[in-house]
Amino acid sequence: MYKIAVIPGDGTGPEVTAEAVKVLKAAADKFDFKVELTEFDFGGERYMRTGETLPDSAVEELRQFDSILLGAIGHPDVAPGILEKGILLKARFALDQYINLRPVKLYPGVECPLKGKGPEDIDYVVVRENTGDLYTGIGGFTMKGTPQEVAVQSAVYNRFQVDRCLKYAFEYAKNHGKKARGVGDENTLALCGKTNVLTYVYDLWERAFNEMGEAQYPDIRRDYYHVDATCMWMVKNPEWFDVIVTGNMFGDIITDLGAITQGGMGIAAGGNINPDKGGVSMFEPIGGSAPKYTGQGVINPLAAICAMQMMLETLGENKAAAKIEEVVKFVTGEKLESMQAGRMGYSTSQVGDMVAEKVAE
Ligand code: IPM
Ligand code: MN
Repeated sequence: MYKIAVIPGDGTGPEVTAEAVKVLKAAADKFDFKVELTEFDFGGERYMRTGETLPDSAVEELRQFDSILLGAIGHPDVAPGILEKGILLKARFALDQYINLRPVKLYPGVECPLKGKGPEDIDYVVVRENTGDLYTGIGGFTMKGTPQEVAVQSAVYNRFQVDRCLKYAFEYAKNHGKKARGVGDENTLALCGKTNVLTYVYDLWERAFNEMGEAQYPDIRRDYYHVDATCMWMVKNPEWFDVIVTGNMFGDIITDLGAITQGGMGIAAGGNINPDKGGVSMFEPIGGSAPKYTGQGVINPLAAICAMQMMLETLGENKAAAKIEEVVKFVTGEKLESMQAGRMGYSTSQVGDMVAEKVAE
């Protein structure tokens, strides 16, 4: 029995979360496990009503769950940063979800903006460090509002953060790399950095990467790319990539690029993972709250369904997870006309129904 916290959030978050929950229930029936769902109303509406984002007491409550399913955070009537920092980043930091795992996988039938690339070319994973870097919020202003104003924001990493992220990434490459998956003859971990300019932070990353790789993972091939070149190769030769590990800021940026190469925000999912014993992870579609589509039933729920699928995989429900992925591939390959909102050929709930029914078969 799994205790799952559900935070539908803002905009289209509730619509897509409802479909993910529908599929989750179908999978639980079919694969013989139980889920107990508890919904929380954190998001823009609650903030405007009460001034509360994610209170400390809620963080303590969330610790009691096996996992968290999140819809979307971001409201057009709330200033940017308040909900993002107050809810999403607060949850990631407070629950020490130090890995942001973002698969970049092109499913069959999904239109890809890269010329001549298909599902066999776009199939890799980004391990984004999720607690440090520019996201720590260290910085400030002086002389604010004057022509001499100075603004500073620091990229911060310590060895501990880097090592635990690298450990996860090497293990991931060992267990899920191309060789492990039977689609290549090596498992490869690539570090994405900027050692030619960020000569402190990515020097630390590169030393730690090579030390750990040499000492503990001699069979895993190590590649290194600067972040700008990473972007170029993600477009030109995505088939080169297997597992990429990078810091928080670069990881944020390159995974939006990755998402668009796999069909966009309608399909891209990620997991904020605390892999430690007793850690509580949180799964979410990468796309935002898409306010302009709210309530119309046109948004694609597959990203939320894929996030829930990752949740089941992380919980160890591998059969159910594999089945859901197979059904998603069937639906993208045989059913949906497009991944884009309003162009799927089906409504949001019809897509959810279709996946749930196939999972139950
Ligand atoms: C993401 C988002 C968030 C991030 C924002 C909303 C704070 O862009 O999950 O990638 O920067 O991590
Ligand atoms: Mn982002």
